[in-house]
Amino acid sequence: MPPSRSCNRFLSLATRRAATTKIPNAAASNHHRPITTTSQPPPQPPHFPVSQRPFRMVIGITGATGTVFAIRLLQLLQTLHVETHLVMSRWAMATGKYETPLTEAQILSLATRAYSPRDLSAPIASGSFVHDGMMIVPCSMKTLAAVRAGLCDDLISRAADVSLKEGRKLLLAVRETPLSDIHLDNMLALRRAGAVIFPPVPAFYTQPETIEDIVDQSVGRMLDSFGIHTASFKRWDGFDWKAKREAAAAERSAEAGAEAGAEAGG
Ligand SMILES: Cc1cc2nc3c(=O)[nH]c(=O)nc-3n(C[C@H](O)[C@H](O)[C@H](O)COP(=O)(O)O)c2cc1C
Repeated sequence: MPPSRSCNRFLSLATRRAATTKIPNAAASNHHRPITTTSQPPPQPPHFPVSQRPFRMVIGITGATGTVFAIRLLQLLQTLHVETHLVMSRWAMATGKYETPLTEAQILSLATRAYSPRDLSAPIASGSFVHDGMMIVPCSMKTLAAVRAGLCDDLISRAADVSLKEGRKLLLAVRETPLSDIHLDNMLALRRAGAVIFPPVPAFYTQPETIEDIVDQSVGRMLDSFGIHTASFKRWDGFDWKAKREAAAAERSAEAGAEAGAEAGG
């Protein structure tokens, strides 16, 4: 096909430019004179706007016991203005009914966006949807096994699989006891694939008084592993040795006083 008219114009312009561009002759050039070139400036790279977005997390809730952990997590993330993308499995809905007074709609409304576990066309099913990490809280042994096997037959396991393949953070708040060889093997494989295995195990050094204290401590530690450090729970700050020494000294002097009193009386 013959070149078009505009193509011809471009070609003739390019030829004229090439003819006027002077290539400096190194041998003839005077080294005191500044070197100037008459060539065209180098082409600039195309300018693409860098996308601005808030901190964004994907949350999966499965049918293991411990829906309260997910609710508290969503509440905290809402307060922190983190954008959340939530999926609740069918069994999460069933288990949740026993464990929390919140309705399914109320739980879903805690997230920025919520999806059906069957909707494999949701944005979070694609690696091109950029986020800052995913948490499955609580994570059942069934979903653990699915993620380990790369079996993506629902949106939670698919989003987790995508997080791993894209090298994004994935935390599994696994919930089961006791653990079988199969459970442990699945956890080890996923740990080696880069996931954080986070059984929500309570700490008692914080001297929890309520279930909320226990939940807050676990959720706070989960957020810690994503670099989100809240003041929503008591952190360990070492023993208060001075207070311990003073208490021991006070005890000793009370004992000595009692002994002296007994001797005087006897
Ligand atoms: C009240 C209740 C508590 C459950 N707790 C657990 C649990 O702690 N861990 C677990 O792996 N499965 C538990 N299950 C079983 C899961 O709900 C079941 O394996 C389900 O298939 C998980 O599917 P999902 O991962 O898609 O939510 C529980 C089920 C019920 C009804």
